Formats: sequence, C-alpha cells, structure tokens
Amino acid sequence: MEKKPLGWTNEKISPLILGSWEFGTPSIIDENNAIKAIQRAIELGINAIDTAESYGNGLSETIIGRAISKFKREDLFIITKVSIDHLRYDDVLKASEGSLKRLNTSYIDLYLVHWPNHYVPIRETAKAMERLFNEGKIRYVGLSNFSLPLMREFREHLSKTDVAANELHYNVLFRDVEKEVLPYMLRENIPLLAYDALGLGYLIGRKEVRNEYRWYVLARETYIKNLEPLIEEISSIAKELGKTPAQVVLNWLVSKDNVFAIFNTTKEDHLKENLGSLGWSLRDSDLRRLDEAVKKVTIDYFAR
Ligand SMILES: NC(=O)c1ccc[n+]([C@@H]2O[C@H](COP(=O)([O-])OP(=O)(O)OC[C@H]3O[C@@H](n4cnc5c(N)ncnc54)[C@H](OP(=O)(O)O)[C@@H]3O)[C@@H](O)[C@H]2O)c1
Repeated sequence: MEKKPLGWTNEKISPLILGSWEFGTPSIIDENNAIKAIQRAIELGINAIDTAESYGNGLSETIIGRAISKFKREDLFIITKVSIDHLRYDDVLKASEGSLKRLNTSYIDLYLVHWPNHYVPIRETAKAMERLFNEGKIRYVGLSNFSLPLMREFREHLSKTDVAANELHYNVLFRDVEKEVLPYMLRENIPLLAYDALGLGYLIGRKEVRNEYRWYVLARETYIKNLEPLIEEISSIAKELGKTPAQVVLNWLVSKDNVFAIFNTTKEDHLKENLGSLGWSLRDSDLRRLDEAVKKVTIDYFAR
C-alpha cells in the first residue's frame, strides 16, 4: 500500500488508520478475534493503529500490544491518547507509563491529548508531553478534539517539538473543521486524523446499529434531518464508479492532502472493502454532487 506523508514529520503512514475502540469492547469482539483482525489489517498494509488508554479501560491497548508482537515494531506507527482526566503534569507521565506497558513497547509513535480539559492549564499538559518527547518515550506530540484557539495555545508551550497531528470529527457530512481549524492545519502542514469517517455506518446506509452505539445514533437521529438524499447520492456515485458507498466516503477523506481516515471494523470483508478506497479519485462532478446533497441535510443540535 502506498504510504502518505504525515505533515511536517518525515514519517509516511498508511492513509487509512485502523481504529480500535471496538477491540476494547468484549461485547462486540472477543480478544482472540480482535488480535486476528489487527494482524490481518497489518498484513494487508495498514501500518497505523489508533487507540487510547480509555478504550475498554486499557484493554484495547493490551490487545494491540499482543497483536503487534509478531511484527517489526519499527514498521508500525502506534497512536494512543492520554485521557481528559489525566492532564495534570504528573498524571500525563503516569498515564504514558501505563500505555507503554499495555502496548508492550518502549515508545509511542504519536501521543495525543484525547480531549482538552478546561480545568487544567494547557501549559502544564504541554510541558509534560514535551518531557515525554525529550525522554524518547513518545516520538511525536499530538492533539485530539482541539479547536483552533486551543491548538494554537498548546503549540506556544512547546519549544523542542511541535504538534504533529490533530484527530477530529470529520466526514462527508460533518465538515465543521473546514471553517477554521483545517485551513490552519493545512497552512502549518499539520495532518488531520479523521474519526467517524463512516459515520458508524449510517452514512453508507447501514441499517442495523450495534447496541453499544445505540445512544449515539439515537442522539444523531434527533438532530440530523433529511439524510436519505445524501445516502442515495453516495450510493449512486459508488455504483457509477464501480465502488461501494464505504469506499466513496473514505476516498473523499483520504484524497485530501494531509487528511487520514480512521475506521474500525471487526470483519475481514469490510476491511478489504475499505482498502479499496485507495488508489483512485472521485471526479470533480462527484464532489459537487456530494456538496449539493450535504446542503440538503439539516443539522439542528437543539432538536429534541
Ligand atoms: N479521538 C476521538 O475522540 C475519537 C472518537 C471516536 C472514534 N475515534 C477513533 O476512530 C475509530 C473509529 O470509530 P468511528 O466512530 O470513526 O467508527 P467508524 O469507523 O465510522 O464506524 C465503525 C462501524 O462501521 C462499520 N463498518 C466499517 N467498515 C464498514 C463497511 N465497509 N461496511 C459497513 N460497515 C462498516 C463497523 O462494523 P463492522 O465491525 O461490522 O465492520 C463499525 O460498526 C475508533 O475505533 C477510534 O479509534 C476517535
């Protein structure tokens, strides 16, 4: 698989990143199958894996640690995150030790602050992250769910390194990041790691929803109106191109400079299907059709 440059770093990683929240959720997938799924993704060319200390309370990291033990560590790019309630200086250091142990590795490639915490000074977290960088425990410092002002502020407190990525909610429908933070990141050559790339499946017309997602999807169903035309447009573009809807929505992301798409799957056929989002491009006319269809969807966060 052709790797993609990761912003200002000298790294190249797979344009698709394997997510792992589900791998830390035993009601969705058991440990042995999760290990197999991760190993299969790596064998098929995905070298970047996204996890967090909070996924399954560390279980996701533990499973990844087991899964990657049969591969060369330097061929992989492991991303994990420190939780919102561990952002005091000493807590960051402690949390990283836990992640290193569970991942069974001596370094984390990219260590993200999972969510900003407005009760902890940004400087304090940034200094702790930089210490981990200086000690070689993490290769790059990154953020997740950080707005433009908070991202700027965080960068001001780093002196030896810079923010190497921001992981954000971004897909064909949810494009808020395009207003402010993404243009800034593109100017600064800082990559965006997009989560919710498939909208948990609802963007591609998937009807059945896992119990574990139910609350999330219900919340969305109350504030997203008129989604059907977008799902139909994605599906008809897919048909014309001989692709699948999942491939269209993933391609929409990975065709952009400095944007990487995170997805999660428990199934080998979905994994292979998602890999088929690489190596081709949507036509300009497809992009315009998607833009038009998105305009028809209404998102009302105050809907009840
Ligand atoms: N930084 C953050 O705050 C944050 C927030 C949310 C998520 N994340 C990261 O992003 C990862 C992905 O989470 P997400 O919320 O973005 O979920 P997602 O990947 O958009 O959706 C996952 C769902 O899509 C289904 N799926 C995958 N490929 C499919 C295909 N080709 N056809 C039909 N269904 C398909 C999976 O079911 P099957 O198992 O049946 O394929 C699963 O139910 C997480 O694991 C996590 O690593 C980060």
